[in-house]
Amino acid sequence: MKTYVAILAGGIGARMGSALPKQFITVGERCIIEYTIDAFDRSEEVDEIIVVVHPDWLEHMEYLISCNRWTKCKRVVPGGKERYESTLNALKAFPEASDEDKILLHDAVRPLVSNALIEGTIAALDECEAAGVAVACTDTVWRVVDGIVESIPERKSLMRAQTPQGFRFGIIKSAYRKALEQGEIAATDDCGMVSRYMPETRIHIVEGDERNIKITYPQDLSFLENYLKTI
Ligand code: CTP
Repeated sequence: MKTYVAILAGGIGARMGSALPKQFITVGERCIIEYTIDAFDRSEEVDEIIVVVHPDWLEHMEYLISCNRWTKCKRVVPGGKERYESTLNALKAFPEASDEDKILLHDAVRPLVSNALIEGTIAALDECEAAGVAVACTDTVWRVVDGIVESIPERKSLMRAQTPQGFRFGIIKSAYRKALEQGEIAATDDCGMVSRYMPETRIHIVEGDERNIKITYPQDLSFLENYLKTI
């Protein structure tokens, strides 16, 4: 059984407001996506890594691969307009994968992912077919409709999803196939796809880590820079 990883880097980072997609911004000595790939390349449990990149940045990503001594990350594939299209391209990039093989999908812009989260997600897939990293909600969350609070879900039943999210290949492929058959994709992450289109699948929770932030706004760059100085 093999374990594949797809690093999703097909976005343009509109909220960051930078000229280049946020995954290619340099913080400390390297760009964000290099820290992310390092984390997976180091794991003994990972067999192969591909990177899904916005079509305009394929060459740049190939250049970064040529500059690094990654042993598992050699391939780049183009991303899609929406995140789910980038995941679909990642799944298609492993035609040799069997239904039992494992695949982890990870946001390129979560460079502080720890080995414990990576290997915890891979290990969880020995017991189940889907697993995702999540942290408890510390803020109360409001459900808002037309600018008015409609309801307030009980906080202790809420968690904030992070990545990596891991699946047995057969499950994630079936979820995407069903979604495409239905013609509308209504999920913002891959566990969401499985939850919606394969509802009988139990998604195991891997206890996440507040440090595993998704770099989204300029202030997140300062957090990363300061954190890197401490390690
Ligand atoms: N992503 C992707 N393909 C897309 C959109 C997003 O692979 N079509 C990736 C991003 O590159 C990122 C991850 O999914 O690593 C999480 O998405 P997000 O943080 O929302 O990134 P962006 O879409 O780039 O940011 P923004 O929403 O601010 O434009």
